[in-house]
Amino acid sequence: MKIGDVKGAFGLLMILMLFLRMILRVLDVSYGIGTGNTALVYHHGKLLALSEEDKPYVIKVLENGDLQTIGMLDYENKLSHTFTAHAKVDPLTDEMFTFGYSLFPPYVTYRVISKDGMIQDPVPITIPAPVIMHDFAITENYAIFMDLPMYVQPQEMLKGKYAASFDPTKRARFGILPRYAKYEHSIRWFELPNCFVSHNANAWEEDDEVVLVTCRLENADDVLDGVIEGKINNFKCELYEMRFNMKNGTASQEQLSVSTVDFPQINKNYTGRKQRYVYGSVGNTKIKGIIKFDLHKVSDAGKEKLEVGGNIQGIFELGPGRYGSEAIFVPCQPGITCEEDDGYLVLFVHDENTRKSEVNVIDAKTMSSEPVAVVELPRRVPYGFHALFLNEEQLQRQQAGV
Ligand SMILES: [Fe+2]
Repeated sequence: MKIGDVKGAFGLLMILMLFLRMILRVLDVSYGIGTGNTALVYHHGKLLALSEEDKPYVIKVLENGDLQTIGMLDYENKLSHTFTAHAKVDPLTDEMFTFGYSLFPPYVTYRVISKDGMIQDPVPITIPAPVIMHDFAITENYAIFMDLPMYVQPQEMLKGKYAASFDPTKRARFGILPRYAKYEHSIRWFELPNCFVSHNANAWEEDDEVVLVTCRLENADDVLDGVIEGKINNFKCELYEMRFNMKNGTASQEQLSVSTVDFPQINKNYTGRKQRYVYGSVGNTKIKGIIKFDLHKVSDAGKEKLEVGGNIQGIFELGPGRYGSEAIFVPCQPGITCEEDDGYLVLFVHDENTRKSEVNVIDAKTMSSEPVAVVELPRRVPYGFHALFLNEEQLQRQQAGV
């Protein structure tokens, strides 16, 4: 099923049919039921295709560029739950951190996977009700879970609604757990004003605080209509910094952008560590450009107009009728002394006027309007969700792996 199908009584009937086919084993669940179409992660020599309603799938990019599906990865039957599309790999330890969420208590399950690909025991994260939890974050010592009021309520489908609905009366909860905790009792919950978050940029520790840089939707009522059905409505998603004080238990937040940005990207060598630059995609349902934010500068959030200045260090506009994918930051080659923003932003671009697709490579340091390289593609690349860049060594390792 597509996400847009999960609406109304017919959508509910389709879900029940799916469950019935699984119970009667008409559908081979050992092969999986998901789409694997949301994001990719590279870990332990394997390239994984992810979507949050299912387990990961190992795929291979072959030498000739073709794709091969190897199969579902359940870590020798130890993975019994879903797996977020936004698993985090710690660049210093090579461990992978992930979670899955479901309709049934404890609703969230957290997992750590060692650098050797060994999955650790599940850690249940108990929250009051099932919610959509698309992303999370890690720091050097913690994992951050977002219990936001986008409730999964299949019964609402009988009223013609989506299976998920946002409750604007509830506060946002953020749970911070020591990242190697075996049990959930040491998790600390913090509250902030009502919001929904699809994607976090990064998180780190600073003195007594855990800092989360995220794309925050204040008015999430319309997010499903806005994203799935292309109705823009009041859809606004802004860059925020949230701070959680582990000593006194307080939480605070600060708006960092006035423009609608999402799909935040960073130099992933800094995942879980304090960093400076965030690259956000601009636009509501179609990406019109990339903004480079400098977190060391004062926010532009008071400004009316989107322009370079304040914490906006650069804007790469795609131009009229041209729309893109999220831009992946590719750091400069290993072995060379690099600054954090020494590297390139790589994105797909489609020109709706000429109907041509291309890959654009942008200098992340200068954010020059002239791409470093433009690679014309022989056919259309659809607007998608997420992307991943593999370097030569990673490409070869995933080809050689099982
Ligand atoms: Fe996502």
